[in-house]
Amino acid sequence: MRKVLITGANKGLGFELAKYLLQKDYFVYLGCRNTEMGKNAVRELKNSGFENCMLLEIDISKEESVNRAANEFGKYSDVLDILINNAGILGKRKSEDNPLSISDVREVFETNFFGTIAVTEAFLPFLKKSSLPVIENITSDLSSLTMHQDPDWLLYNAKSISYGPSKTALNAYTVALAYEYKDLGFKINCVTPGWTSTDFNGNSGGKSPAENCINLAKYAMLDENGPTGKFFGEEGELPW
Ligand SMILES: NC(=O)c1ccc[n+]([C@@H]2O[C@H](COP(=O)([O-])OP(=O)(O)OC[C@H]3O[C@@H](n4cnc5c(N)ncnc54)[C@H](OP(=O)(O)O)[C@@H]3O)[C@@H](O)[C@H]2O)c1
Repeated sequence: MRKVLITGANKGLGFELAKYLLQKDYFVYLGCRNTEMGKNAVRELKNSGFENCMLLEIDISKEESVNRAANEFGKYSDVLDILINNAGILGKRKSEDNPLSISDVREVFETNFFGTIAVTEAFLPFLKKSSLPVIENITSDLSSLTMHQDPDWLLYNAKSISYGPSKTALNAYTVALAYEYKDLGFKINCVTPGWTSTDFNGNSGGKSPAENCINLAKYAMLDENGPTGKFFGEEGELPW
């Protein structure tokens, strides 16, 4: 049974991904920073008949927490097959009354970029022991510098100096990592879920997390012929 760790799995897309992969016979570690919310998520899954899951406490923006989580994981398994770096934050929005400070920008990068790197580095020793290691970094359409150049693009006006750039940086990390591990059989990609109604955006519309997790799951369940070092969305490969 392949083992997958999903960060930010207590709700939203992470939780639905966990449920979907459990249905596909994966063992799922739910990475959650809030113990109570994590326990509730695991309880809900077990009550639905999904026994192959457990909570792994992890706050990806705190290095001690990430290292503790990796140590804890090592008590249960030597091998991790799939890491889904899903945890992410939108951060504050800039407005005329509320300009962003550098610390607001740093906070977003601390989670979406540095936090994701910390988790990946901490779990790489377990991934290296898998016969088919997969890393999926959950990015955003807003990370694409190419699409941001197109005035006809639906999200052309949704530019920011924190969230979008933090995901652009994550994409760049993904390219570097995929290159580093290209000869070791790793499959390492960025995937955007597209607009999804979750707490992330105040449940402001878009598809449900249950619908949008299906395409995310596809890039977690890759086989040895799957792509690496690419950026995907529902419509297929996307430009950086
Ligand atoms: N929703 C969209 O339209 C959309 C579009 C494009 C990309 N995305 C991306 O999809 C991913 C999932 O978003 P979502 O819509 O499912 O959002 P969500 O419902 O707000 O869930 C985000 C998850 O990340 C967790 N998280 C945040 N910071 C964390 C940290 N430091 N350590 C551990 N966990 C942390 C949250 O935990 P708590 O519950 O403890 O806060 C929560 O479990 C994010 O990376 C987001 O950028 C979402």
